[in-house]
Amino acid sequence: MGKKIKTRIIHTGSEPKKHFGSISDPIYRNSTLVFESYKRFIEAKKNRFILPYYGRISTYSTRSFEKVITSLYKSRHTILTSSGLSAITITLKSLLKCNDQILVTENCYEPVFNFSKLELSRFGIKTTFYPNNFKKLENLISKETKILYVESPSSLNYEVEDLLKITKIAKKNKIITVIDNTWSTFLGCNPLDYNFDIVIESATKYLSGHSDNFLGIITTNSDNLWKKIKKTAVLNGDFVSSESCFNAMKGLKTLEVRMSKHSDNAKKIFDYLNSKNSVEQIIYLPDPKNKNHKLWKKYHKMSNGLITFSLKKKRKIEYFLDKLSLFKIGFSWGGYESLILPLNNLKPSKKLATNSNYWFRIHIGLEDVSDLINDLETAIKNYEK
Ligand SMILES: Cc1ncc(COP(=O)(O)O)c(C=O)c1O
Repeated sequence: MGKKIKTRIIHTGSEPKKHFGSISDPIYRNSTLVFESYKRFIEAKKNRFILPYYGRISTYSTRSFEKVITSLYKSRHTILTSSGLSAITITLKSLLKCNDQILVTENCYEPVFNFSKLELSRFGIKTTFYPNNFKKLENLISKETKILYVESPSSLNYEVEDLLKITKIAKKNKIITVIDNTWSTFLGCNPLDYNFDIVIESATKYLSGHSDNFLGIITTNSDNLWKKIKKTAVLNGDFVSSESCFNAMKGLKTLEVRMSKHSDNAKKIFDYLNSKNSVEQIIYLPDPKNKNHKLWKKYHKMSNGLITFSLKKKRKIEYFLDKLSLFKIGFSWGGYESLILPLNNLKPSKKLATNSNYWFRIHIGLEDVSDLINDLETAIKNYEK
């Protein structure tokens, strides 16, 4: 019988026999890789996406981590890139050409919105942003549509798409489906099971988990798509350091326990926020009252540490934010620590009105949750004074 995923995570990715019995593989640092003969050199040249060739294209460490991700996603190929954002931009650049159209969720991570508007447009590629409404999305499909780009649950507002409906309509229209799966990781959802062509994850977040690493993951079952994307990554000189893979491998080993703890803590913070008068709205997917709760349950096995909420406007935002000591103001999420980010939009195309409530995204870390609640309570009390 096949082993469970929690076991597979622990028993994957190192080869003690090759490495003096070491339980973790060493970090292979090399730009130059050498060939034992002219024949091997020519072989490597012809198969440079697979065989050792040059350190920018792969090292033992990057190749080994690619194999780990391929096995955990049960896919055929994985490409690593220098960041989550480069995984997205390289994928889109590799598959689009002048006069193509791409459909992008209007709830995407803001830099993807900017990349589509400012970069893809320079190459004559048209981006149409679709809302979280399947009928409307269906109506936007045209003969020129080449890619349907999904982020689900999405950034900041955690809207969820019906993954099977999306891939069904895309297959019917011969459109390539790409999904940013960073919110869930492979533990929460494997979009390949729902027929997505390409799955992307920023391993910078939960997978690495320590706010000290950048890494992008692209995984697919298609030989053809893999070749095209890898070619673009190589042509663009994208580079992944072996250290990044080592850090990610380390993070991977504790991913499941961290995600569970982030989720448990987040649930308690949600209950606390729910009890506060100054808190106007909370967006949190495990909340049965959330409009996307049912759909999220249908496709996801676990939650994470993300909550978005608003405070009724009473005093200056500083009375709340600067009184927090454990929740630090900062970008990103998925690390061990709690963070808070003041927001000026819940979707990149729509700025919040300046007279509206204050909105925040919080990432609940691995601290003792009672300390986190006390931290919020002190800051909210100061704000309410
Ligand atoms: C949903 C999502 N996708 C992609 C990225 C980009 O990842 P990276 O910071 O590794 O470039 C982020 C970063 O915040 C993100 O939140």
